[in-house]
Amino acid sequence: MDFNIAVLAGDGIGPEVVDQALKVLNAVSQKFGHTFNYTHAPVGATAIDQTGDPYPPETHEVCMKSDAVMFGAIGDPKYDNDPKATVRPEQGLLRMRKQLGLFSNIRPISPFKSLIHRSPLRQDLVDGADFVVIRELTGGIYFGQKGRSEDRTGAFDTLYYTKPEIQRIVALGFDYARKRRKKLTVVDKANVLASSRLWRETVQEMAPDYPDVELEFLFVDNAAMRIIQWPKDFDVMVTGNMFGDILSDEASVITGSLGLLPSASVGTHTGVFEPVHGSYPQAAGKNIANPLGTVLSAALLLELGLDLVEEAKAVRAAVDASLEAGMVTEDIAEGGKAHSTSEVGDWLAKAILKTA
Ligand code: IPM
Ligand code: MN
Repeated sequence: MDFNIAVLAGDGIGPEVVDQALKVLNAVSQKFGHTFNYTHAPVGATAIDQTGDPYPPETHEVCMKSDAVMFGAIGDPKYDNDPKATVRPEQGLLRMRKQLGLFSNIRPISPFKSLIHRSPLRQDLVDGADFVVIRELTGGIYFGQKGRSEDRTGAFDTLYYTKPEIQRIVALGFDYARKRRKKLTVVDKANVLASSRLWRETVQEMAPDYPDVELEFLFVDNAAMRIIQWPKDFDVMVTGNMFGDILSDEASVITGSLGLLPSASVGTHTGVFEPVHGSYPQAAGKNIANPLGTVLSAALLLELGLDLVEEAKAVRAAVDASLEAGMVTEDIAEGGKAHSTSEVGDWLAKAILKTA
């Protein structure tokens, strides 16, 4: 089949890791007889430099016309150290989420067998952990009213959710749980926040439609502890924008392999697939960054964005094989030889072409 893929490589190591994902996608297209048409478009600091806008209208057009978006990373230290900068790369990311209606961010969390000893947690706690964090991505405190007091000595952000916003993300959580081990954990702060009480009320109204799913509510502080105490307890976790931002980062490090984790943001329009890690500016252009997070995001792109399930499996199998063969970048090379970003990409592409 024919598919259009928007390629938003972004900043820092974004372009070099995305290059490897494209090698892998090309191998998949050759192997399985598909055609992927790529359209590159600027985003983040790169887009600010070129156009003054971190998510220019032309880039949005390209995304809207595509079947899926392959995204690298955004961010540049020159903006991080300047709280007064009026245009920032992150604004582009938030606007992209809003304009594409990407109300859900999906992060599968499970350790790789060969890297489990790198987990900051005891091996017996993480071995076998396998859960998905689903974060609401276009509402909550990220997008509520914000501002300064008149005398500018105070500032506020508003955490606002509507019932339909809660319903659509929670429905996704229930559906995911149904396809997995049938347990849904809803994370909130209902002992303090009115918006969290609306979450609970809404979830309780929906629950009778999912009698086969075990439902649990957790306060966010408790959830933060449980993730490191009993990560194996979780199956699907669903939560609001900011709690999800924090908990999904916490969850991602317990696998011991931050550079390897993928994410999908899906919703009303084209889905965006990107690694969990940032733009790692110190490594940009050095051909040392770990491309696996992006390659595994390409697998999610195939599976969730294009509905190509077998193709996604082939990519994951190649990644597993590369880890076992020690074909890895310096961040996870132990004792053995570290390979470059592009060597890993070439190896994966070949591995996919070689499989029966
Ligand atoms: C993420 C990032 C973003 C967020 C930042 C860069 C705005 O941390 O995708 O998790 O907070 O959503
Ligand atoms: Mn984050």
